[in-house]
Amino acid sequence: MSIPVILDCDPGHDDALAIMLAVADPAIDLRAVTTVAGNVTLENTTTNALRVLDMVGRPDIPVAAGADRPRARALSTAASMHGEGGLAGPLPVEPSRGPSSLTAVELIGQVLTEASEPVTLVVTGPQTNAAAAIEALPHLRHRIARIVFMGGAVNLGNWTPAAEFNIWVDPEAADVVLRSGLDLTMIGLEVTHQAWLTDKHADAVRGKGDCGLFVAELLDHFVGFHQERFGWEGAPIHDAVTIAHLIDPTLVTTVFANVEIELGSELCVGRTVVDRWRVTERTPNCHVGLGIDRDRFVTLLMDRLVTLT
Ligand code: BDR
Ligand code: CA
Repeated sequence: MSIPVILDCDPGHDDALAIMLAVADPAIDLRAVTTVAGNVTLENTTTNALRVLDMVGRPDIPVAAGADRPRARALSTAASMHGEGGLAGPLPVEPSRGPSSLTAVELIGQVLTEASEPVTLVVTGPQTNAAAAIEALPHLRHRIARIVFMGGAVNLGNWTPAAEFNIWVDPEAADVVLRSGLDLTMIGLEVTHQAWLTDKHADAVRGKGDCGLFVAELLDHFVGFHQERFGWEGAPIHDAVTIAHLIDPTLVTTVFANVEIELGSELCVGRTVVDRWRVTERTPNCHVGLGIDRDRFVTLLMDRLVTLT
């Protein structure tokens, strides 16, 4: 029995690897990909999602474009990390098709309606589309099995000292998701900063067909960026951890805790305030990732990626 999944993303190197893992692993039934502005503009994240699905031979998976900006703020991108187009490294290639005529929220509604069982929504970009879907589709909320998102941190941020990028870009959207009452799992930086790949992994897949070369060239850029910018040996493959967590729930350890989003403070906006030690009376609302078995994650990811040709 595979898990039906909608992947809402902003590719982005690690989003691309999340899509590839979702396609490669038989435990995941990727029903749709929806795109959001985040790492780069919506036009680019949508083109990149289409391109990655072409690369893995799945142009049958529908792709719909969603929000081109956060709910209440101007769009701020991470082009400095992912390149202006969002997938710096491999040479850009035009996708074989355009996106669906449906919006992201419409496609999410269609997939939820047509599925014979509840569907898992995985969010690896700003939560603008997820919040819009929660608000627009209240009659379908029982069709959402759970939401697993990459974003936030118990401790430090990565885009500001206090906030992680996905939450910081659209904190008002994250606030809607965290208050939704849905079954939520947060894969934050405590987890994903342990989930890194290095040059060695790029070289291990470089000779393995078109997909292997594509992954290697993505890693060349992404690992190189993290080496130069932070002095790290490798690059965290943040977004792929959401899919790995679905495939093998024993990889990531979690604690059920209250998580609220800071919206007001200039210094701390976008911070996921996690009541890790239950020092408040606030009701737990989210399974919060605390750590990952890095070796097993890397083995899983690499084993699956090399099956794509
Ligand atoms: C998140 O920010 C983006 O740059 C990555 O794609 C990931 O989703 C990590 O903070
Ligand atoms: Ca992302």
